[in-house]
Amino acid sequence: MTEATKPNPYLSHIPERDLTTPSGKSLTLINPAYMTRQVHELAAEQYGVRGHITSLNPIRPENAPDPWETGALQAFERGETETISVKKMEGEEHMRLMRPLITEKGCLKCHAAQGYQEGDIRGGISVSIPMEPLWAVARMQVLTLAAGHILLWLMGFGGIVLGAQRLSRSERERNRAAEELRKYAEQLGQANIRFREADQFKSAFLATMSHELRTPLNSIIGFTGILLQRMAGPLNDEQIKQLNMVRGSGRHLLNLINDVLDISKIEAGQLEVTPKPFDMRQAIEKAVEAVTPLAERKGLSLVAEVAPEVGEVVSDGRRVEQVLINLLNNAVKFTQKGEVRVECEVDDDRIVTRVVDTGIGIKPEDMDKLFRAFSQIDAGIARRYEGTGLGLSICKKLVEMLGGDIRVESERGKGSTFAFTVPMQTGGTT
Ligand code: HEC
Repeated sequence: MTEATKPNPYLSHIPERDLTTPSGKSLTLINPAYMTRQVHELAAEQYGVRGHITSLNPIRPENAPDPWETGALQAFERGETETISVKKMEGEEHMRLMRPLITEKGCLKCHAAQGYQEGDIRGGISVSIPMEPLWAVARMQVLTLAAGHILLWLMGFGGIVLGAQRLSRSERERNRAAEELRKYAEQLGQANIRFREADQFKSAFLATMSHELRTPLNSIIGFTGILLQRMAGPLNDEQIKQLNMVRGSGRHLLNLINDVLDISKIEAGQLEVTPKPFDMRQAIEKAVEAVTPLAERKGLSLVAEVAPEVGEVVSDGRRVEQVLINLLNNAVKFTQKGEVRVECEVDDDRIVTRVVDTGIGIKPEDMDKLFRAFSQIDAGIARRYEGTGLGLSICKKLVEMLGGDIRVESERGKGSTFAFTVPMQTGGTT
């Protein structure tokens, strides 16, 4: 017996309700309902959970049910075992739970007097839990959940925005790169145009200049010839020697200018070939005639072997002759003893012409330099055998313009063979 646990007045009819132990402690009889109430009081104090033991037929008036409990108890009488609902109690929402208390054998000691039998619904215990803290928890959970969702959504959205930004950035970069590429291409195109213009200008300049140089040079050669024929009066030996040197240099310069003119015309695309029927045999004879004086001076025999089927060819006769004279000149120039021979034959639909010499020959490593402009094989030879170094490159270009090709075979010290082909019928290439 304590301050909190006073003797239950509803048990006062029980003879030994209160006892005093030999050591002086006072004890009081506690019925389950009383104990339950005490537990409930504790719960109410500590958790705000309110418990209520009640009955439709209460012994203690305070145990009487409220309307909700009455309904629940009546439901238990009908056989339900639990009632749960959220109800407003004293202005605040509570979750209310109620379960029945069934009369057992032990209960009858005290409750049989009220007419209860074993198995009867004696009453029930209700528990009311204020919803506010639950709502708070729920709200917290909802909040956390919502926050989580918002966070997730934000992250997703952020990702999308970021991705979009990165995409548009890489798109921008790509566009910029493409723009730059376009710019470069444009610059390249312009540079190319300028280069082509400069190249054409160079060729045009060379063509004009060569022409302008040729005129006075022809007068120099011409007037030197007049002096040498003593048309202007007698000459002594020294004067003749020096005038011959002037004429020789003049002719060399003229050849050089002619070659430069040809090359620049070819490169400027101004050189045209005009295919016309001509007699190949005659062309060869003419070319041989042109180099005969030089060959005779060197004591070389000049032989032409033209196959009987060689006759009319449709090509540019003047250019074919130019190539022939060029090759023959070279052959005579680079041959000290022996012979220079021209062979000509028809091979299918082309005409093949070979100029064979027994000259100094060409080193294998020099073969591919041969047909390049301004590349006479070595300066020593150039001096010994005067020449412009343009002859073979002009020959190659001319032959190609005529639709043919040119090649060389040579053995050092034994001689060289230059062979070129032209089609029997050349279309109008320009
Ligand atoms: C020692 C006697 C005693 C025994 C045993 C006993 N009770 Fe009670 N019970 C009482 C008294 C007295 C009250 C009323 C005063 C109170 O609330 O303490 C009561 C109250 C109740 C109430 C609350 C309603 C009302 O009538 O006031 C219920 C429900 C109840 N008892 C159920 C039972 C059940 C079920 C058992 C068996 C498990 C049981 N009791 C056993 C004495 C007893």
